[in-house]
Amino acid sequence: MSEAVRGLFDALARRYDLGNDLLSLGLHRAWKQAAAREALRAAQAGRLRALDCACGSGDILLAMARQARGRLDCVLHGLDFSSEMLEVCQQRLDASGAGAQVELVCGDVLNLQYADGSFDAATIGFGIRNVDDPLRGICEMARVVRPGGRVVVLETGQPGNRLWRAVYRLYGRLVMEPLGGIATGQREAYAYLNRTAASFPCGERFMQLMRSATPGSAPAFSAVSGRALMGGIAWLYCGIRAGQEA
Ligand SMILES: C[S@@+](CC[C@H](N)C(=O)[O-])C[C@H]1O[C@@H](n2cnc3c(N)ncnc32)[C@H](O)[C@@H]1O
Repeated sequence: MSEAVRGLFDALARRYDLGNDLLSLGLHRAWKQAAAREALRAAQAGRLRALDCACGSGDILLAMARQARGRLDCVLHGLDFSSEMLEVCQQRLDASGAGAQVELVCGDVLNLQYADGSFDAATIGFGIRNVDDPLRGICEMARVVRPGGRVVVLETGQPGNRLWRAVYRLYGRLVMEPLGGIATGQREAYAYLNRTAASFPCGERFMQLMRSATPGSAPAFSAVSGRALMGGIAWLYCGIRAGQEA
């Protein structure tokens, strides 16, 4: 499965941003800014060490770098298993002047190569539903975050309102798949993204999944919260890492 997902994102990489802007009418940018804001709240003493998992073309990294500029000393890491996505990400970071501040790594969310407690915050945007084992992904993210730090997850959802849900599903099938296909040449990728978005647990169900994360033997989080965006098209979740702060 993960090989197929990696191939899909490698093929999509060069046109990924265009597809996102077109299909979300630019909304995804505001949501990623909100995710970055949430992560920045984990800064301590004017310093933030953050890891963006499944960073793709780098929107959340760029948002964190911009929001931190001039007020936080910020060390950012971005991780993705698609080398094509990482290449696009590096180009965008360099063009924005944030390249020196961010280290990009080719790796797997399910097996992070960082020591326990290395970061104040770990984020993942529209990535957790693509990993083979989302609970393990959350456990790994929690493991590398220090006690009191934050795990921030931005992910698609299904609107709670029946009418809005029906409209959104129709939009997915009649607009997103064909238009995404035309814009990127990868219609199958948009069919996959649509399918997974329609079935991935959201809201209380996803928060339950976060609460069940136990990277060692104890629960990962002392508190988990979630906020619906645009009536539940997307959700922003935050887990506060449990344990004694140093
Ligand atoms: C829908 S894109 C999201 C990219 C970016 N976070 C954003 O919000 O625009 C999903 C990303 O997850 C990456 N990905 C999926 N499974 C992964 C895994 N197990 N480890 C690392 N990256 C993964 C893909 O390569 C892709 O870049």
